[in-house]
Amino acid sequence: MVEGALRRARERITAAGVDMRLVHGDVTELRTSGVGTGYRLVLDTGTFHGLTGSQRAAMGREVGVITTDDATVVLDVFAPRRRGPLPHGASRADVERAFPSWEITDVETADTDPDALARALHFDEHWYRLRRR
Ligand SMILES: C[S@@+](CC[C@H](N)C(=O)[O-])C[C@H]1O[C@@H](n2cnc3c(N)ncnc32)[C@H](O)[C@@H]1O
Repeated sequence: MVEGALRRARERITAAGVDMRLVHGDVTELRTSGVGTGYRLVLDTGTFHGLTGSQRAAMGREVGVITTDDATVVLDVFAPRRRGPLPHGASRADVERAFPSWEITDVETADTDPDALARALHFDEHWYRLRRR
């Protein structure tokens, strides 16, 4: 599945004529993934909230390694809830636990106009913005 998604992404990058590097890596092992360092912005749309507690802690640690001191991290997170195979979500405390060296500076509702599925599954989705303490 991942290779198929990457192939499709490569096609779209070519079609758009943009310069973009794709890395197939694990967010809990970023320093050995080849993604590199020196990032001022990390955006995660929906990975963090599906990880286990230890994976989240590893992701927080690894994001800390690849980012600059003035970096911003933005996470798109469902509220905690059982949703079958869908991500079980994360609370503000979960975010704080995984990113102990970071401060949550903003929390905003992510989906201001949820569709029927989002309402039925109670996504209750938020953007968290973090800066280093
Ligand atoms: C809910 S999807 C979100 C995908 C995409 N970011 C988006 O917004 O459409 C979560 C993704 O996280 C990936 N994932 C799960 N664990 C991961 C890990 N340890 N490292 C990297 N990706 C992971 C899954 O394969 C899945 O593609």
